[in-house]
Amino acid sequence: MSKPIRKAIFPVAGLGTRFLPATKAIPKEMLTVVDRPVVQHVVDEAREAGIEHFVFVTGRGKGVIEDHFDMAYELEDTLRKRNKFAEYDALLADLPKAGATSFTRQQAPLGLGHAVWCAREIIGDEPFAVLLPDMITLPAEKKTSRCLAQVVAAYEKHGGNIIAVEEVRPEETHQYGVVKKGNDYGNSFEITGMVEKPPQGTAPSNFIISGRYILEPEIFGILEKGEKGAGGEIQLTDAMIQLARQRPFHGVFFDGRTYDTGSKLGFLTANVAFGLSRADVKDSLRAEIIKLLG
Ligand code: UTP
Repeated sequence: MSKPIRKAIFPVAGLGTRFLPATKAIPKEMLTVVDRPVVQHVVDEAREAGIEHFVFVTGRGKGVIEDHFDMAYELEDTLRKRNKFAEYDALLADLPKAGATSFTRQQAPLGLGHAVWCAREIIGDEPFAVLLPDMITLPAEKKTSRCLAQVVAAYEKHGGNIIAVEEVRPEETHQYGVVKKGNDYGNSFEITGMVEKPPQGTAPSNFIISGRYILEPEIFGILEKGEKGAGGEIQLTDAMIQLARQRPFHGVFFDGRTYDTGSKLGFLTANVAFGLSRADVKDSLRAEIIKLLG
C-alpha cells in the first residue's frame, strides 16, 4: 500500500509580475476571490483532500500570509464582545491546528523547482502534495471533490507520482508544461513524457500540467543539482522529467476548472465563477452581470 499523503507544499515566493501594480505591496496569494484570499481557497482544497500539514515557501514581503494563518486576538475578542459569533466561528474554522503549518523562505526567486526544494527538510522522506497557490479550482457541477482530492484518489490507485492535467487548445500549449499520454485508465493515464513550454506546433498533446501534484521525495535529490531550464529558472517540470526515468508518473484528468488568479483575466473570471457558486451571493451577482451586459 502507498504511504498516505499528509503534507503539502504551497510555493508562495513568486513576485507576481503579471499582476502589477496590485501585487507590489500585497502578495498575489492574498488577493480575494469573493471574500477569501486566494491562498485560503487553496488551503481549503488541501484540507478537503486530507492534508494535515501545510508548508508555505515564502519570500520577502509575504509575511501577511503567515499572519493570515494565525490567531488575531484583538479581532476575535472584538467579535465576541459584539456577539458576532457566526463571524468568530468562521474565522476559527479556517484556522489550521496549532503546529500544522510551517513557513520557510526561498531566499531568491530562482524558480518553482527551487521553491519546492526549499521545503525538503520539512517534508522529509515521504510523498507529498504541491499546490500552486495562484491556481484555484472548482469541481465540475454535481461533483463534490475538488482537484487535489481527485489527485489523491488517483494516487491511491496507482501510487508513485501523479499530476493533474487539463486540456487546452493546441495554440495555447506553448505557454505550459505539457505531458505525453501512454496507457489510458479512464480518468487517469500513464505519462510517458513531459516538456516545459514546447515551441508552437511541437507539443506532444493538448494536456497541460495544471498546478496540483503528488511527488515522491526522490525529486529533492534531483532538484538539489540546481539545474536551470526555461527562463533561466530551476523548473519543477525538468526535475519531474528526470524522476520519470526511474519512477512511475500518472496524469489525472481533473473534472472541473482551474483559474489562474496570477493573471488579470483569470482573476476576474475566478471572482465571477466562485461568486456564482456561492449560495449567499449567486442570485444578486447574476442579476448584476445581466444588468452590466445590457
Ligand atoms: P508563476 O510564474 O506563476 O509565479 O509561478 P510568479 O513568478 O509569481 O508570477 P509572474 O509570472 O511573475 O506573474 C507559479 C508558482 O510558483 C511560485 C509562485 O509564487 C507561484 O505560486 N514560485 C515561482 C515561487 O514560489 N518561487 C519562484 O521562484 C517562482
